[in-house]
Amino acid sequence: MAINYQERIPNNVDLGNDRRLQRALEHWQPRFLDWWQELGPEGFQTKDVYLRTATSVDAKGWATFGAVKMPDYRWGIFLADQIQDRSIGFGDDFGKPVWQQVPGEYRSILRRLIVTQGDTEPASVEQQRLLGLTCPSLFDLRNLFQVNVEEGRHLWAMVYLLHAYFGRDGREEAEDLLMRHSGSEDNPRILGTFNEPISDWLSFFMFTYFTDRDGKYQLKCLAESSFDPLARTCRFMLTEEAHHMYVGETGISRVVKRTIDKMSELKTDDPATLRKAGVVDLPLLQRYVNFWFSSCMDLFGAEVSSNAAISFANGIKGRPDEKQYEDHIAKDTSLELEVPDEKGGIRLEEIAVRSAVNDQVRNAYIKDCQVGVTRWNRLIKKAGFDFEITLPSSRFRRNIGAWAGQTVTPEGNFLSEEEYHRRHDEFLPSDEDRAYVQSLMQQVTEPGKMAGWIAAPDRGINSLPIDYEYVNLQ
Ligand SMILES: [Fe+2]
Ligand SMILES: [Fe+2]
Repeated sequence: MAINYQERIPNNVDLGNDRRLQRALEHWQPRFLDWWQELGPEGFQTKDVYLRTATSVDAKGWATFGAVKMPDYRWGIFLADQIQDRSIGFGDDFGKPVWQQVPGEYRSILRRLIVTQGDTEPASVEQQRLLGLTCPSLFDLRNLFQVNVEEGRHLWAMVYLLHAYFGRDGREEAEDLLMRHSGSEDNPRILGTFNEPISDWLSFFMFTYFTDRDGKYQLKCLAESSFDPLARTCRFMLTEEAHHMYVGETGISRVVKRTIDKMSELKTDDPATLRKAGVVDLPLLQRYVNFWFSSCMDLFGAEVSSNAAISFANGIKGRPDEKQYEDHIAKDTSLELEVPDEKGGIRLEEIAVRSAVNDQVRNAYIKDCQVGVTRWNRLIKKAGFDFEITLPSSRFRRNIGAWAGQTVTPEGNFLSEEEYHRRHDEFLPSDEDRAYVQSLMQQVTEPGKMAGWIAAPDRGINSLPIDYEYVNLQ
């Protein structure tokens, strides 16, 4: 059956006039839909969900709301508007015109970047596929699905680039994006973190707060790329990504709110008492923060990286909001990094700025993570409790880079391996913590009702009331 792609796939890349590209996508689309049916959200594929769909990139069209069954979601291809006379913003070719095609010498490195980014999008859908079965409310269920369909759209965005600019290799990579599966033994997703299932909603909120924010920073770096179609694609993805982090930030806020309400009511901060009352005690929340933040630290790669230096020099991948940096060429400049010395202490090492790009991106990310934490702490303080949620040190629990394998506390202080293991449950969620969180996960689907461990949101979606039927389960 012929599909009208103009209608089926909203786009601003003039798909209707590119036969070759249309054919490639014609071939790929049914596979995507099969993947979505098989590994997308479990149990709700035939239900109407109140979703936002992008139908254009302007302020009017990028957020069109309406009830839709997820397999009928119109996954579109959108690039942010082209900037006239855009020039390369960093590296050796600073100031020269950006590329509208892939330069031959950078083909494989660009393909690799796009594939790695693209791989995380369906991976997260796979990781989250069972969460609907334990949703704390219809409002949250809808937000989960919104995140899921948009990650699906981000996959489309990367697949578009592969098909449109990388010929046969690109088409093969696009197929492989549907072949690798999160957690698969023989064909896993590329990045380690994306192979762990997300089996509870506290983890989902942590994921959308911390891991999606890593996504934001990767997209920001790619939005600086000299390869203009990639830059424009990522710029538009960032508008959607903001909602994912909002889900995380408000989700954690609501957990905090519910907990401090119980703490006030019962006049206690005793975790055992609070668990009997069915809420998430704050030390437990802190251990989840420690876990998720530290696993995201590794996503930025090693502090010192020659690959990052090459990508920067060649104008392939920049730093987030490159304009904020003073020196965009950074040819012979250096900075100091804290690295472990061999005597159980810290020393400063002088590193070329270009080799330390990963660390600069990571630092920008950390600063951004702090914003929500400050907000949560304000809630706690206002309720009169003496507890502060903190981000752990970037040295804590690292598997990649200068701090890999060092045993340090969340505060960043060294301790022996033995002591680290002995105090593990103080730093990170214990089996008991996880079992407790799991025990809270009971599905609530009555419109407007919330599970006992989370407060109601301040407002509904798109000015609708909180008790709106965001997912119609009939
Ligand atoms: Fe995404
Ligand atoms: Fe996302």
